[in-house]
Amino acid sequence: MTNTAAESKAQRVERLKRSKNPWEGLEEIRRFAREGFESIPPEWLGTYFRWWGVYTQGDGAGVTGGQGGEGRALQCFMVRIRIPNGLLSSEQLRTIAELTRRYAHGIADITVRQNIQLHWVTIEALPELLEALARVGLNTTSACGDVTRNVTGCPVAGVDADEICDASPLALEASRMLAGNADFYNMPRKFKISITGCRVWCPYPEINDVGLTATTRVLRGTPEVGFSLRVAGGLSTEPYLGARLNGFVQWHQVLPAIKGIAELFRDSDVLREHRERARLKFLFLRQGWTAEGFLQELQRRVGFEFDPAVEEAPPADVYRDHVGIHLQKQPGLCYVGAAVLRGRITAEQMQAAADLADRFASGELRTTNMQNLLIVNVLQANAEALAKELDAIGLRVGGSSFYRGTIACSGTEFCKLAITETKSFSRWLVEELEERLPGFDQHLKLHVTGCPNSCGQHWIADIGIDGKKLKVDGRLVDAYYFCLGGALGLHQATARPVGYRCPATEVPEAIERLLRQYLTVREAGENLRQFFARHTDTELREFLAGAPVDAVARDLPPASAGAAGPGKLAQAAGGDGD
Ligand code: HEM
Ligand code: SF4
Repeated sequence: MTNTAAESKAQRVERLKRSKNPWEGLEEIRRFAREGFESIPPEWLGTYFRWWGVYTQGDGAGVTGGQGGEGRALQCFMVRIRIPNGLLSSEQLRTIAELTRRYAHGIADITVRQNIQLHWVTIEALPELLEALARVGLNTTSACGDVTRNVTGCPVAGVDADEICDASPLALEASRMLAGNADFYNMPRKFKISITGCRVWCPYPEINDVGLTATTRVLRGTPEVGFSLRVAGGLSTEPYLGARLNGFVQWHQVLPAIKGIAELFRDSDVLREHRERARLKFLFLRQGWTAEGFLQELQRRVGFEFDPAVEEAPPADVYRDHVGIHLQKQPGLCYVGAAVLRGRITAEQMQAAADLADRFASGELRTTNMQNLLIVNVLQANAEALAKELDAIGLRVGGSSFYRGTIACSGTEFCKLAITETKSFSRWLVEELEERLPGFDQHLKLHVTGCPNSCGQHWIADIGIDGKKLKVDGRLVDAYYFCLGGALGLHQATARPVGYRCPATEVPEAIERLLRQYLTVREAGENLRQFFARHTDTELREFLAGAPVDAVARDLPPASAGAAGPGKLAQAAGGDGD
């Protein structure tokens, strides 16, 4: 008998994982659907469902309404549909639209890993939903849980005029190799892979457990495309940008390398001791691993040595929203990118976008890491007309920098760990900023995240804000803490926590003050990243506040917000993972 009472959270999850591969449990899911929500045992609700991309949905109050660091759940689910490399056909999108209309209150979210997430799905609807997805070659397997998550890739792979290579076949292969594979159903925690052949590193390789970016070497006079390899990146409460290994990964070595790293992660017992420290990055952060040691261990596992890495060209200050009309590498064709404000899209919009992709193009669409939607292979002559149609359905091909650059995580609307509401807030924030700073001329990444877990990736934004609670007139209200100057690529750095926090209602004013200061004192050609870099935290805080202010801690002291304080609550819950 197991003494379950004395188990830590990690021990419990490890025990549950050892006793069942949830991917073998489809019949159980069908039975729950027949017998109703009450028949679902806690181990499915809290753990096994995630392997099917299914996660209990918060009741709208977020973490504050619950206990033990987790908010209360409703009797329905969020369901994450996995879209490897963001490649989507019109038929698939139409199916998602129909399922959204039928089972998900008519709304869906495009996520930062190129997935589409539904909410409000009941247990009764789940089997039919999974079957409908399967009929069009989609699934939710491996979209949540301690497994390989959606393999991300450049959303314009194969059409980008400037790409080094189309790496999407590798992303799809990697996905097939790991998602749903019983050998890899039990990892210490989530495992994220991105592979790209583009020059601007669209899928953020630096924040993945495995990040592969195309590069070229010349061997005996012949150019050869291969990959740089970064490992152990991740955000969450303790961000770590992936360590580059000294290896040139040839095309045929990519899958063995990924498999080797997946095995290394899977077999790392030390990572199974604490859910909060179970990601690959903790080998580097806590266990003293180095890039050299990691490479050696990887080579031992794959049974060959990689050639030494070659010089690469990380992208400088680039903007990767893919919004607008862009020429493809194929003569006469364009892709048209629409900004989907904070990823929120309706069933009607998806249906219409799918129809437009058929009418104006080859029926191929892409989802992006900035929560946007693209239609590819559009005849150049049709591009303007398509753009107008997309604008007309509220998927903006034009749009302000704020509209294009804002992304948001799930927030209290659906997430049990959330401290703040994020999606409506982000829409309001964008409207406010458009009004306050019309014609603002710089691209910017404005990332809104509802708790320290950073699903909205505030660490890599120009302006990243993470949700807190503040007491105003004796009432707890939503608030945000500011991190500034995050960047990936050549100037990689996580955003600096600058010690400024304000109620959500004051965020537009604070950002307006900051950006006005930038517009007033920027040097010729200076972009936001450079502006933030040449100012101290104290100065940036003053710009945000409009007057000198002392730095505040990121989280409230426990006494000011109930027993544990919402910030702490969400962190305590860390590890139970999305
Ligand atoms: C300990 C708990 C959690 C941690 C540490 C965590 C962390 C993260 C991080 C860092 C990302 C960024 C994705 C990337 O790497 O590119 C992410 C993605 C995401 N998270 Fe979480 N998360 C947690 C729990 C949750 C929960 C409870 C929800 C909602 C109910 C959620 C919803 C999402 C969504 C929608 C995405 C988009 C990515 C996807 O499609 O996989 N997360 N999470
Ligand atoms: S960052 Fe926090 S609030 Fe947002 S989805 Fe992730 S866990 Fe939920």
